[in-house]
Amino acid sequence: MTHLSVNLNKIGLLRNSRGRNYPNMVEMAERTLQLGAFGITIHPRPDQRHATYQDAHDLKDLLKRFPGAELNIEGFPDAQFLDVVLEVEPDQCTLVPDDPNQLTSDHGWNLARDQDALRPVIAKLKAKGIRVVLFMDPDVENMVLAKDIGADRVELYTEAYANTYGKDGFSDVLATYQAAAQAALDAGLGVNAGHDLDLNNVQTLCEQGKITEVSIGHALTAEALDLGWDNVVKAYLAKLS
Ligand code: PXP
Repeated sequence: MTHLSVNLNKIGLLRNSRGRNYPNMVEMAERTLQLGAFGITIHPRPDQRHATYQDAHDLKDLLKRFPGAELNIEGFPDAQFLDVVLEVEPDQCTLVPDDPNQLTSDHGWNLARDQDALRPVIAKLKAKGIRVVLFMDPDVENMVLAKDIGADRVELYTEAYANTYGKDGFSDVLATYQAAAQAALDAGLGVNAGHDLDLNNVQTLCEQGKITEVSIGHALTAEALDLGWDNVVKAYLAKLS
């Protein structure tokens, strides 16, 4: 079984578009965990346009009431991000090489270039007992280095997988991801996956049993709208009739 960590950034985005705390991220996290999800993920960016640094603290408090459930904080390891993560001490920290103005994460680490910067960051996080994950493209050859610089797991960036799902060339892309996952396992790493996964494509990625955890936010939120919209419109019509 693959763990589901629900990324609540889109709840933060909706909340932040108005001046009040609705939808309430902590309440949504609580509902999510009560339903049996393994964990909650947030990706606070420097402008805090989705999840905020305060959300990290609030979710940590919530998670204390859910033993065994995990908080995963992902993001680029700048000084402010690291301060928050080291203070909050989530179960897992996923390091992502995105720049502050990026719309969303769109590539994995270049470890050959960034390994010297990453080593001390990873060591600091691990000294606090935080599991460290590196966001990576599905390249077999990078997995040994990811292990060597101290990572516990990699998170495979799955946009290419999701984009080709069900289209020509999909079996080759799937094989690339399975090979990268196997190389990570062989190197002694755990394997997470995320980005653009949805109800339609997630099962095929995970059915070989190599993926420990997926984090899903954008599609899960859109699918919740899709599956819930009709009921809510009907409820308004009933109120107004
Ligand atoms: N993993 C990382 C590193 C991300 O930046 C994101 C998006 O915040 C995800 C996973 C989840 O992607 P999605 O929102 O498409 O499910």
